[in-house]
Amino acid sequence: MTKLVRANYQPPTYITPKIFLAFNLEKDNTTVTGTIQYKLLNGKPGDALVLHGGKFNQNEFNQGKTKFISATINGVSILESMQESFENEFQIFTIPNVPTEGELVITTQIDPWNNDSCEGLYLSDQLLITQCESQSFRKIIPYIDRPDNLAIFTVEITANEREFPVLLSNGNLITQTRLADQKHKVVYEDPFPKPSYLFALVAGNLACIRDQHFTKSGRKINLFVHVKTDLIGKATLAMQALKEAMVWDENEYDLEYDLENCHLVGASSFNAGAMENKGLIIFNDKCLISDPRMSTDDDQKYIYLVVAHEYFHNYAGNRVTVREWLELALKEGLATKKETDFSADKFGYADKRIDTIKQLRSSQFAEDAGPLAHAVRPDEVESIDNIYTDTIYEKGAELLSMLSRMMGRKLFTEGVKHYFKVHDGCAVTIEDFIRAQEHVSGRNLQQFLEWYKHPGTPKIEFYENYNEIKKEYILQIRQSNLGKDGTELPAFHIPIAIGLLGSAGQDIIPTRLIELTKKFESFVFENINEKPVPSLLRDFTAPVIVTVSPLHTEQHAILFVHDTDPINRWMSGQTLKLAIIKQFMFEYEWRSMDSSTILDEKSVNHALETFTKCCRYILQDNDLDLGMKVNLLEIPYADELISEFKTVNVDALVYAVRVLKSHIGTTFYQDWFDLYEESIILGCDELTQVNADRRRIQGLALEYMFISEQETGVDMAITQFSSASNMTSQLSALFVLTNEDYHDPDNIAQNALSKFYEQWKNNDLVILKWFKVIASSQRHDALDNLERLFFHPAFDIKKPNHLYATVGHFARTNLKHFHNAEGRGYELVIDKIIELEKFNPGVAANIIDVFANWKKFDKHRQKLMVGQLLRVSNLEHVSLATKESVTKILEGITQVPDIVDRSSSANFYSPMFDSMMYEDLAPQSFTPFSEQEIEELNEALKNTI
Ligand code: ARG
Ligand code: ZN
Repeated sequence: MTKLVRANYQPPTYITPKIFLAFNLEKDNTTVTGTIQYKLLNGKPGDALVLHGGKFNQNEFNQGKTKFISATINGVSILESMQESFENEFQIFTIPNVPTEGELVITTQIDPWNNDSCEGLYLSDQLLITQCESQSFRKIIPYIDRPDNLAIFTVEITANEREFPVLLSNGNLITQTRLADQKHKVVYEDPFPKPSYLFALVAGNLACIRDQHFTKSGRKINLFVHVKTDLIGKATLAMQALKEAMVWDENEYDLEYDLENCHLVGASSFNAGAMENKGLIIFNDKCLISDPRMSTDDDQKYIYLVVAHEYFHNYAGNRVTVREWLELALKEGLATKKETDFSADKFGYADKRIDTIKQLRSSQFAEDAGPLAHAVRPDEVESIDNIYTDTIYEKGAELLSMLSRMMGRKLFTEGVKHYFKVHDGCAVTIEDFIRAQEHVSGRNLQQFLEWYKHPGTPKIEFYENYNEIKKEYILQIRQSNLGKDGTELPAFHIPIAIGLLGSAGQDIIPTRLIELTKKFESFVFENINEKPVPSLLRDFTAPVIVTVSPLHTEQHAILFVHDTDPINRWMSGQTLKLAIIKQFMFEYEWRSMDSSTILDEKSVNHALETFTKCCRYILQDNDLDLGMKVNLLEIPYADELISEFKTVNVDALVYAVRVLKSHIGTTFYQDWFDLYEESIILGCDELTQVNADRRRIQGLALEYMFISEQETGVDMAITQFSSASNMTSQLSALFVLTNEDYHDPDNIAQNALSKFYEQWKNNDLVILKWFKVIASSQRHDALDNLERLFFHPAFDIKKPNHLYATVGHFARTNLKHFHNAEGRGYELVIDKIIELEKFNPGVAANIIDVFANWKKFDKHRQKLMVGQLLRVSNLEHVSLATKESVTKILEGITQVPDIVDRSSSANFYSPMFDSMMYEDLAPQSFTPFSEQEIEELNEALKNTI
C-alpha cells in the first residue's frame, strides 16, 4: 500500500496542457478517445511517462479496470511497450522512452450502464453522468490524474438523440451536429485550464429552466437548471439560490462568473451532495430539488447552502486549485466558509452560527478525539476518499472564520481577493493562502499555521480572581494540546472573545477579543465595581474545549437568560441541560444498582430548579424571536450528547433525555399550548425566516405537549398531519405520531406511516423522509420495521440516498436501537456495509465511521461492535477506504477479546459507571499567578515541548 505523503511531493514529471476527449455513448459499446498533448516538466528526457489507470479490484467493469482499444504516441502503438503495475487500488501504466513531448492517443471501452460505484462515468436513472473527484477520471481513460496537472479540455459527445437529447460538458458549446442513425454530436470547449477532477459530462433526457444573470460589469450569463422531466417544477429555488450566490460573490469578493453559461444538473444516484465541475455542477437531487409541499424549511435552506458552496468553488478550487489532495481543506474550507457567510447574511447570523457550532462540537470534535482524527492539512493519507470529513470542511472553514475575526471581515476579504489574483490558474497550498493574508494585513500568521498541522482540539482552562479593593478582575487562561504521541504541542494562536456581565445580567464590559499566543496568559480588567460574571469564548471564537471554567450553575443561568451574545446564551443553556441530563443519568444508574452511594437529592434538584426558572423566563419573553426560543429550549440531539462523554451508559442517557423532555413538557404545558396556537399560520408555506421560525416552534411545542399529555398531543398531531400543506408541518406531526410507544389501540402510528407512504410513494425524495422516520423511531418494534424496510419495493440498495436515509440515519440518530443490547443494530448496519463493498465502496466507507466511537460504550457493547467490525476487516475484498477506516478504528485488535475490562492490556476499558460521577458545575477556587510566575510557567512549558 502506497500512502500519499506530503513530504514527498514532487511536481509531475510530465504534464498535459491540452486534451481532446471524444465520447461515443452506446449501450454495450461506449468508447472514449483521448488525444492528449503531453510534455516534460520536471524530469529528464527519456523519463518514462506514467499514467493512472482504472480500479482493478473485484469485477472488472463495475470497478472500472481500464480496457484499451488502442494507445499510441505520435502514431506509434505503445500497447506492447507499456508496463502495468498497481498502486493501491489503481492500475498504473508506465511507458518507457517516450519523446520529451508528443501526442498521446488512447481509446478505451467503458461500461457506464453497469457501473454502480457512482464514480467515473455511470448511469443514474437513465441519465449518464460523471463524478471524477478525486481519482475517478482515470476510470474513464488513463491520464496523469492529479490536481496539479492542468489542461484545456475540448469534449465531443456522440449519442442517440432520442435517448440522450441533452448532451453537456464543461465550458462553451462550440458545435452541435445531427448525424445519421438518429444520432447527434456536440463539441464543448472549456477555455480555463483545469485538473481532470473537474471534468464532467451529462447525457440524458432532461428538462431545464433557464434564467439570466447580468454581472456587475454587464456581462450576460445564461443560467440553466436541468432535472428529470417530472421534477421540472421543483428547480426554481435552486435557480434563485444560484443567482443570489452570484450577486453575493460579486459584492463581497468582486468575483464574477467567468463562462457564458452555468449549468446545474440534478441526479438521483450520487455519493456526495454535489460536485463543482467547471461550468457544469452536478447535484444529488436532494440538494437541488424542492418545493414547500415536499421539502422542509431546513431542506430548502440546505439547498441554498449547497448551491452557493458549489458556485463559490468556481474560484475556490477551480480557478485556483489544490497542489495535491492533502491540501483539500484549501478549497473545501474556503467554499464552506463562504457558504456559511452567505447563509448567515441571508437567514440570520445566530441561527447559522449555532448550526455550525453544533456540527463542530458534536461531529468534528468527536472525529478529532477518535481513531479517525487527522489534521486539517494531513501529512499523509492512505485513501483520499477518507479525508472528505468534518475536519476538512467544518474545521477548515472555522479556521478561516477565526482569521476573519482577528483581522476583521474587510481585511480578510482583501486577503482572499489577493490570493485569487496572484494564484489564478495555479495549483497551490494552504501556505500560499496564509501568505496572501499576511500580505494584506502585515501580520505574521506563522503561529496560526499550527492549527492546520495537528489533529485534536485544544483545551482551554479559565481561572478568575476578583480583587475587591483594587476593583480588578483578573482572568488567567491556559491552553494545552497534546499531540498524537502524547507530548504537548507548541502554543497555538487562539482568539478568545470575552465580555463581563454584572450579577443582574447587565453588560459591564462589552465584547473584547483577546489573542492568546502563549500557553499561559493573564489579563486584567480594571475599574470593575462588582464581581462580574464572565461571558467566556463569546461567539465561540475558537474551536476549543473549555475544560476548566469559573462559572457555576447560577452564573450559567444568568448568561442563559441575559447574555447579549446570543451564542453564549445558547452555550450556557447547553451546559445547564447537559448537567441536568448527567444528574438524571446518575439517578438512573444509582437506582439500577445495589449501592451504598448516597444520592445527593439537593444538588440534583438545584440545577433543575434553576434551569426551570430560566425556561419560564425565556418562554414568556415576548421580545425574543421564535427561532432563538427553539434554540434555547430544545434538547440536544443524540450525536451532540454522545460527543460530550468520554464513556457513556446509553440506557441511562436515553432515560435522562426522556425525563428532561417530559419535565419541560409538563411544567410548561400551557405555555407550549399557547405558543402552538399563536404560531399557526395557514397558507404561508413558502420559506421565509418568519414562517420557518413559526413552524420550528410549533414542531417543538407539539413534541413537548405530546410527551406530557399524550391524548391531546395525538389529536393535535393528527390534525396537523392531515391538514398540513407543507412538508415541515406534515413531517413534524408524523415524527411525533410514530417516534414513541404509546397507548394506540387504533393503530394511529401505523396508519400515519401508511398514509404518508401512499401520498408520496411516487416521489423518491420524500420517500427518503419516510425511511428516516422509520429509522429513527424509538418504538419497541423499530428494529423489525427497519429490517422489513430493506425488502420494501421502495428501497433500492443501489441508490446512495437510500442507504444514508436508512442505515446511516439509524446509526447516527437512533441511540436506543443502534445500541440494541443484543447487537442487532450493529449487525444490521454492517450487513449493508458488506453488501455495499461489492458495488459502491464509497458509501460503505462513509457509513462505517459510525463505529469509530465504540470505546465509549460498555464492555458488552464494545465486544459486539468490535465483532461486527471484524466481519468487515476479514472480508476477502475490502476497498482501501473502508480498510483504512476499520484498521484505524480497531487499532490493532484482530479478535473479539474474551474478557474486556479496564485492567486488561488491550485498548478496552469498562466505562459502565464513569458517567455516574456527577459533579455540579462547581469551579475550583483559585489565586492568580503573578507575572513572574506566569513567565516561569511559560518557560517550564516550553521545555516540555
Ligand atoms: N468537492 C465536492 C464538494 O464539496 C465533494 C466531492 C466528494 N468527493 C469524494 N470523493 N468524496 O462540493
Ligand atoms: Zn466543496
